Amino acid sequence: MRKNIVAGNWKMNKTLQEGVALATELKNALATKPNCEVVIGTPFIHLATVSELLKGSCIEVAAENCANKASGAYTGEVSAAMVASTGATYCILGHSERRAYYGETYEILKDKVLLALENNLKPIFCIGEVKEEREANKQNEVVKAQLEGSVFNLSAEDFGKLVLAYEPVWAIGTGLTASPEQAQEIHAYIRSLVSDKYGKEVAENCSILYGGSCNGKNAAGLFANADIDGGLIGGAALKCEDFKAIIDAF
Ligand code: PGA
Repeated sequence: MRKNIVAGNWKMNKTLQEGVALATELKNALATKPNCEVVIGTPFIHLATVSELLKGSCIEVAAENCANKASGAYTGEVSAAMVASTGATYCILGHSERRAYYGETYEILKDKVLLALENNLKPIFCIGEVKEEREANKQNEVVKAQLEGSVFNLSAEDFGKLVLAYEPVWAIGTGLTASPEQAQEIHAYIRSLVSDKYGKEVAENCSILYGGSCNGKNAAGLFANADIDGGLIGGAALKCEDFKAIIDAF
């Protein structure tokens, strides 16, 4: 059966020292194994130190991005192989901030997903509509195009290694959360798309996380739904007690 996962996304926050302090606090707070898988997504420079620090703990580490090229003359980029060499096991890809601010197209993301998989990283692939699209009731079309554009080229075996994260852009960092009903409705739709493409078993095994102003207060209501298998957490992942409260929702 699919896993429940709570994944943090630190974004561009925390110096190395602050990140080490937060990871240490989390490790101590989660000394008793929680009822879900826990992942923290950190900036590239934290990955090696944080992965080493969390070795043997129940917390997995994710990069927030990787390059769309394997290696070579791409100044400033960080490859999937480099990410994997730090001990990180996941890679967040297709986050709406990457799509909006760094021009990440379906094609670029397709390459990133392939490279992450080739390097044994599990992609947390983000999809979701912007406010205008939700207002025009186009959210289903949008997530379908995002899946078709970047991940429905994969074999069933490779698709099975992905975690999906539905993140309505209007809910990210805004304090506006999708209601549990709104989230469940589109999560069920996303799972039906996976089922149509790869069959029922792959769909049933696919973890679909919700992201967008998820916090200790609303997490339990969201996670109680049949098709919501956890959360991708931004703001509330930056403080140990806030993040722990979300984990404790399971
Ligand atoms: P938020 O961010 O929890 O701060 O809304 C979620 C995300 O962007 O992954």
